[in-house]
Amino acid sequence: PEDFGISGISCYFPKTFVKQNELEKANGIAAGKYTIGLGQTEMAFCSDKEDSVSLALNATQMLLDEYQIDPSSVGFLAVGSETLVDKSKSIMSALMPLFGEDVEMSGADRKHACYGGTQALFDALAWLNWTYAEDHKLAIVVCTDIAVYDEGPARCTGGAGAVALLLSPGAPLVFDRGLQSTIACHSYDFFKPVGSYNCEYPIVAGADSISCYLGFLSNCYKKYKQKSKVKRGQSSLSLADFDAACFHSPFTKLVRKAVAVMVAEDARDGRRVMGEENREEIERLRGSDEPTNLSLISSDALKASEHSWIHLSNPNLEMNRRLGNMYTPSLYVQLVGYLSRLEEERMEREEGKERRILMYSYGSGSIASVFSFTLNEGRTERLKRMVQVSRSIMGRLEERIERTPEEYAETMAQREKFYVQRVPSTPSSLCSPSLHPLFPGSFHLSSIDENNRRHYART
Ligand code: ACO
Repeated sequence: PEDFGISGISCYFPKTFVKQNELEKANGIAAGKYTIGLGQTEMAFCSDKEDSVSLALNATQMLLDEYQIDPSSVGFLAVGSETLVDKSKSIMSALMPLFGEDVEMSGADRKHACYGGTQALFDALAWLNWTYAEDHKLAIVVCTDIAVYDEGPARCTGGAGAVALLLSPGAPLVFDRGLQSTIACHSYDFFKPVGSYNCEYPIVAGADSISCYLGFLSNCYKKYKQKSKVKRGQSSLSLADFDAACFHSPFTKLVRKAVAVMVAEDARDGRRVMGEENREEIERLRGSDEPTNLSLISSDALKASEHSWIHLSNPNLEMNRRLGNMYTPSLYVQLVGYLSRLEEERMEREEGKERRILMYSYGSGSIASVFSFTLNEGRTERLKRMVQVSRSIMGRLEERIERTPEEYAETMAQREKFYVQRVPSTPSSLCSPSLHPLFPGSFHLSSIDENNRRHYART
């Protein structure tokens, strides 16, 4: 089959969050810096009884339940994460109890900052192409991370969550084969060295990471357009040909800038740009030179890209705005946002227009890709299920519990202590379940034994 792609999606996030405007006050920061300047309203966080494994267990169990997947029908399971709990053992292997004993399964983990989940996705699709005709087995990819930063300007860009994706033929979101454009380079914009640096936090060069993110976007997008011309004869392809554009989102203001970079590039290339109301700015960009520093977004580029931002990107970002940076899942939760709004959008769409979704994945260090999916509306039953599940995930945002900045800071201090604690150890948050609640039925870390083995339980 040619129509391999995403046929199921689930998402787990912690039950507790802190408001960004409260953090501004508590940190003595000018009002608006986190909420308007970075475009974030809330940040999810978890206590020491949740780790990347328990988040992944929750997202995977939800995927199996919501889509009634027979575990024996799955032959590939890969996890993308940069929140390591072990330098050797895969998180994937810790998910195997959900699939039974002694079952045939390929996969293992992929690690590269926020990009690992995308590599796992590409590998899952390659595996399906290679084996499906004979084995008829499905693939699952899980993205799981806890983004925590030391005190300072980056701390407000934390977050946590996990996404699980089911990949199969006959998928409602069909992967556009052969168009994906990937580049890599050696950089130290964000990293987590082993050895003497014994803590959970990354070393981060914020401004460099933003330049890398935008520079790689521009480069990958150019290559994606070249491939569209050579492989599909689409010589005029632009952002205007997409129904949605999803981006890795450390904070949503960076996504706003990413849209401006792409629209400015389309205009300079003489390609179609949406938004009659900003025709003047669009025309001024046509024929203008490419700026050397992409982080300095011109007011023309921001104005010219307003329509694209409002229609293609901003509506899908609610989870990113309210959960924060989840690292590997940050890109894929926008598919949940997109799917949850699908039926109302359908009323407004142009008749007969093909619906495609553009994706940009970035991982510091650095690797990035632009790729895309086409919506296969013929797969109605499965698409309806994905829409229902996405809506219920969005609904769960309202079931979370707000915590104060002080409670958040205490929880971070508790995580720091737990990270270096001697074994055997038990998460201290287990002693205060009302302060650190979990959604009913959630997996959580129950102990680390004297041999450093992690044990999990369900609420
Ligand atoms: N009201 C409204 N806006 C404000 C206010 C205010 N009171 N104060 C500042 N701002 C704006 C600034 O103008 C700026 O906007 P601009 O970039 O559009 O000009 C924005 O808020 C941020 O202000 P900065 O001074 O640039 O912020 P700072 O340097 O303190 O930190 C940073 C921001 C670098 C993003 C930091 O949070 C960080 O290092 N985060 C982690 C790294 C990261 O996420 N990198 C992204 C890619 S890599 C990855 O995903 C991990």
